[in-house]
Amino acid sequence: ISSINMSIRVLVVSDTRSSGDAKDTAGPKLMEKLHVLFPYAEVACNTIPDDKAEIKSYLQKYAKQDIDVVFTTGGTGFSPRDVTPEATREVIEKEAPGLATAMMFRSLAKTEMAMLSRAVCGVASKTLIVNLPGSPKGALECLDFIKEAIPHAVNCIN
Ligand code: MTE
Repeated sequence: ISSINMSIRVLVVSDTRSSGDAKDTAGPKLMEKLHVLFPYAEVACNTIPDDKAEIKSYLQKYAKQDIDVVFTTGGTGFSPRDVTPEATREVIEKEAPGLATAMMFRSLAKTEMAMLSRAVCGVASKTLIVNLPGSPKGALECLDFIKEAIPHAVNCIN
């Protein structure tokens, strides 16, 4: 599979953004960046609250639809409502610690706060799931750190 026919989903996980209390910028910025990186990929975005059951159900739906890559953004931190990594872990069949480690390692060079992300990456069926942090800056930085490996990872899964 080349980036030409990759299907990508951005899943914004945030109570405030899904309720409309805060404007979502991470979603649109990630979409914009993904269009630049993978011009021929099909990219769509959804916004949901920090609810483990709902996150799981979206991830399972994407896996069932054979979506190639899902980038979640948000809910990777330490606050009580942050459950994106837990939901991801319950959906994936194979963990991809290399992707999470690459993001952590390179993020730490930018900010010590990177150690507060608990991002998980892995494969569910034929879908690669990547947790990105919630801040637009953090999400874009992390995507940048792993972008080169994404098409090859998708190739290997298929
Ligand atoms: N990673 C990068 N590359 N750049 C960042 O600015 N912010 C961190 C971290 N990871 C950051 C980053 C911060 S401040 C937090 S609290 C955690 O991601 C978790 O964010 P989340 O709960 O919004 O997912």
